[in-house]
Amino acid sequence: MLMIGLFMSFGSFASVRTSNVIPKPVKSRTNGQSFKLTEHVKIIYGENLGELADYLTASLSPATGWDFQEQQGENVQKSSIFLGVDTLSSPHKDGYHLEVNNKSIIIKGHSSAGVFNGIQTLLQLMPAEIYNKQRQRDVEWVIDGIEIDDAPAYPWRGIMLDVSRYFFEKDYVLHLIDMMAMYKMNVLHLHLIDDAGWRLEIKKYPQLTSIGGFRGEGHERTGGYYTQEDIKEMVAYAALRNVEVIPEIEIPAHTLAAIAAYPHLSCTEKEFKVPLQHFISRDLYCVGKESTFEFLNDVFDETFQLFPSRYIHIGGDEAKYDRWKECPHCQKRKKELGFSKEAELQVYFTKRVQAMVKKHGKTIVGWDEMLEKGLEDKAVGMVWHNTEKAISGTRDGHDVVMALTGHCYFDVAESKIPGEVKAATWLPPISLKKVYAFNPMIEGLDEKYRSQVLGGHATLWSDQFIHGAILQEIAPLNENRSEKYFDYLTFPRMAALAEVCWTPNENKTWEDFEKRMATHYARFDQAGYGYRVPQPKLVSKDKKGGQYEIKLESVVEGAEIRYTTDGIWPNAYSPIYTKPVCVDKLSDFMAITVVNRNQYSLPLYFPHRYDKFKKYGQLVAEWNPSKIKGKTFDWFEMNATGKIDQNGTYELSFWFTGGAYRLDIESVEVFKNGKKITEDVHLGFTSGKSEDNSYLLEIDEYETGAAFTIKAKVRGDKGNDSNGAVFIKRKE
Ligand code: ACM
Ligand code: ZN
Repeated sequence: MLMIGLFMSFGSFASVRTSNVIPKPVKSRTNGQSFKLTEHVKIIYGENLGELADYLTASLSPATGWDFQEQQGENVQKSSIFLGVDTLSSPHKDGYHLEVNNKSIIIKGHSSAGVFNGIQTLLQLMPAEIYNKQRQRDVEWVIDGIEIDDAPAYPWRGIMLDVSRYFFEKDYVLHLIDMMAMYKMNVLHLHLIDDAGWRLEIKKYPQLTSIGGFRGEGHERTGGYYTQEDIKEMVAYAALRNVEVIPEIEIPAHTLAAIAAYPHLSCTEKEFKVPLQHFISRDLYCVGKESTFEFLNDVFDETFQLFPSRYIHIGGDEAKYDRWKECPHCQKRKKELGFSKEAELQVYFTKRVQAMVKKHGKTIVGWDEMLEKGLEDKAVGMVWHNTEKAISGTRDGHDVVMALTGHCYFDVAESKIPGEVKAATWLPPISLKKVYAFNPMIEGLDEKYRSQVLGGHATLWSDQFIHGAILQEIAPLNENRSEKYFDYLTFPRMAALAEVCWTPNENKTWEDFEKRMATHYARFDQAGYGYRVPQPKLVSKDKKGGQYEIKLESVVEGAEIRYTTDGIWPNAYSPIYTKPVCVDKLSDFMAITVVNRNQYSLPLYFPHRYDKFKKYGQLVAEWNPSKIKGKTFDWFEMNATGKIDQNGTYELSFWFTGGAYRLDIESVEVFKNGKKITEDVHLGFTSGKSEDNSYLLEIDEYETGAAFTIKAKVRGDKGNDSNGAVFIKRKE
């Protein structure tokens, strides 16, 4: 007996701390008991929960190696896991009550969705190995006793996958649904159509996929699409996992793939090709011709046969009206309707589509541009620009889902550390902490509109991934398939978004999340989900006797920190960090998190600081002797994407920081997507003394997603031994 007692207590010691669940449950308390899963445990399930019982068995069987007996019943039994629906268990549809005690595990959900969420919490309470698809021997499947009452703060916890620019095979979509389910995310928005590809089989219009689903010629041809059978499989797979799949059939812009397949849908009716490069086409669906609406009506008819969601996303973003302005059909429509602006034609388009889908009982969702325009029926605005659009949208009676670019655009990299994934650069990095700082509720929103804020939504755009080549440059990933990159962009950030959408803001802190998150990387490893390994956390850097003492902490449980003190990048074989390290110069120190020899983080390091230049704006580039020529002028190129972020006048200034020679500057030019848009030509220089060293650049053609580069003609006046930095600031 004593032996068993010891063994049991060891087992529960080794098991997972209850407080590690993400998203953090609303209420939980430990009860000092514990439950041991054995092959004799039965799964008892209430009416209509047979599929969830099968799901639970399928979740527990591979790693344990046991095939659990399932039995329908309404009562909890000893040595069982009970699944039941009880509307009193939680006031919220997605809510549940979970109890783990010495005898049994009880999961009661308000609905089957609640039961599913309770199962996810249970899996997170188990040892990480439970996520493995291979049998794990020598694991004690012991779960600490606990009682949890839990429900989400928001009904909409979503993510968008752009399957148009990069075609993800069905299996990746299923994999993403599993990743979502682990964190109780419940809306998958498929961006099925864009300029670069049409991905949904429509039987009445086969060219949408045979032409619109592929780009390139011969062996360069790439692409693909989902058959209607594929979609049915994805939708059913998602439904079992409490994920609603919302298709996006975008109007009127981002539609070149459809126009390439059926040119009569455009204003010009010219022949088009599905583009090989990312750009936002100015060719829209023609709003003047009735045939456009007949086409869309047919497309929606087939789409709604496949997607049971009550929502249809119709895009609506980034329409430029050049073609409508020149099209006789569109101009005739504008005149007949008495409109003065093309923007009114877009409202007309949206309203007609809204009426078309209303017959099917569907509500339209659209990017926030759609909300500006006074629709008659209630819609859902997906807000990406700023909260003002959400405030006016809710006032006009619409619901909103918050997908703000500063927190939710997961196609943007987490950092600017050299070696970081080359993803979208038109926005500053979005770190895990920045995602966690997101609050879907709009500050100051009147109480009466708060229930119209449905939740939060991340976007995984794939326009930067059109070209496979860009993907081969992340050393720590050692992987060149886009799918791996999308895991890297998704995890751990989706876990942070999930908590933001689930746990009431006042119940959560970053520090507590970071500690729980540390235990989840092992779960990703077990499940085979890719992720970005976070750098070590800097605890302190204190100056002691002329040296810096650097204290670090790993934010990945079970990982090592390895470091160098000679300015060379650490690797999985560098010295292991065991205690604070002292260095003379901060710039000599670098450290990485090492999960295993093939998986490690980018370095934590201390970049040169430019505090005294702060008033000149953001750092754009640094020059040193290797980047410039002495005596002769030559081009020095800088990436300003993300730094030029709206129209306005920008001041670009050059500042010398060291070396034997001054930098002479002759001219500065700005390029948007490779095309020169402005310049400032005058002589200036910077050394100990600087003169005329700032350049004024007028930007009036800003466009989201566009790449901005700046080229300056410079030289070191008598040689190349010159160092310095370039800053940019938008003038108010
Ligand atoms: C968007 O990023 N164009 C919605
Ligand atoms: Zn037209």
